[in-house]
Amino acid sequence: MLNRCELGAVKLTFLQVIRCKAAVAWVAGKPLSIEEVEVAPPKAHEIRIKIVATGVCHTDLAYLCETSKKKKPRALPLVLGHEGAGVVESVGPGVTKVSPGDKVIPLFLPQCGECECCRSPKTNLCTKNWENLELGVLADGTSRISCRGQQMYQFMGMSTFSEYTVVGDDNVTKICAEAPLDRVCLLGCGVATGYGAPLNTGKVEPGSTCAVFGLGAVGLATVFGCKTAGAKRIIAVDINQDKSEIAKSSGATEYVNPIDYSKPIQEVLVELTGGGVDYSFECVGNVDVMRAALESCRPAFGTCVIVGWTDKADMSVSPDDILMGRTLKGTYFGGWKSVESVPRLVEKYMSGKLPIDQLITHTLTLEQVNEAFQLMTSGQSIRTVIRM
Ligand code: APR
Ligand code: ZN
Ligand code: ZN
Repeated sequence: MLNRCELGAVKLTFLQVIRCKAAVAWVAGKPLSIEEVEVAPPKAHEIRIKIVATGVCHTDLAYLCETSKKKKPRALPLVLGHEGAGVVESVGPGVTKVSPGDKVIPLFLPQCGECECCRSPKTNLCTKNWENLELGVLADGTSRISCRGQQMYQFMGMSTFSEYTVVGDDNVTKICAEAPLDRVCLLGCGVATGYGAPLNTGKVEPGSTCAVFGLGAVGLATVFGCKTAGAKRIIAVDINQDKSEIAKSSGATEYVNPIDYSKPIQEVLVELTGGGVDYSFECVGNVDVMRAALESCRPAFGTCVIVGWTDKADMSVSPDDILMGRTLKGTYFGGWKSVESVPRLVEKYMSGKLPIDQLITHTLTLEQVNEAFQLMTSGQSIRTVIRM
């Protein structure tokens, strides 16, 4: 997509607007519409990426369909998708970390390396452009994607449901050239988030007892993270019985279905474990399940980690549960400092130490993106990957 113009020794390169397909969300709660969009060239410190594959994560659907408790209107029209992988097509001025042709994973959580959080070993929550990314625009407050003359918001500063997108240069990481992009794209969100939750945020110790609520890609990666941390007992909890087999092959030692019991699931877990689990992980994004996960923890030192996302409702907590020594924490992107960690997670996958393949149950085209949402809500899929 370059126009080269040679004037004697002076070589000028003009980047052009790219016309391509994207799935556009015009209206909240309605199916996405496949449209021709225009993707502008990257500005300074931006990178234009040809997206090769993208996972469809529950957060895409939740953002589209659930109304925020904060009554914040969703930024529309919008191009969703935040779990992608692709190849750098072009770079704007000042970009030094990647070059055209590099395989990359775009990162909704940046790692600028300079902000207070990046300099602290205590957190991965880089604050660079935080408000803009949340709003769905790049650093200069605008987006690079437009459709029928109208600017599209870029979900989390990403928009991987587009054949091309533009992201900031701290919102991308280069990965090894051999990585299969239609697999490692899951490290852009679900698998990185789930796998990191017990390792980085929960800090699960060997011999622990864990409970994982919700067995989508996020929850199953959490189960595997608990296993990697050396947990002795991993109780997988899901209302969909079909998830029991995959939970066990991901490392769960037991599966319980809340529907099989007349009492609340937290009471069941407290009984099953003789007092509560050491660590629980909520991977659903449901405030009632969050409370159940907290109440499943043992008093004195049980830790509950919130992994699932929602802004639909407030969570209620009994102060007594906290006073009695339980810890309630949250994890964002699994606690990984994104730019430096994702290439290492890709290497881990490549060396067979991080199972991703078994989570990908469906592969569809961009035109079939609404089917991917249906497969998710009907519980038929674990993860659908869209191949562009
Ligand atoms: N109790 C237990 N499990 C439940 C419950 C419940 N009350 N309600 C739903 N689930 C299960 C579903 O059956 C499903 O297996 O939670 C799982 C959620 O999986 P996915 O829909 O595939 O979601 P996933 O993409 O893994 O994301 C999980 O993390 O990123 C966030 O927004 C995302 O909050 C969501 C969470
Ligand atoms: Zn996600
Ligand atoms: Zn930072």
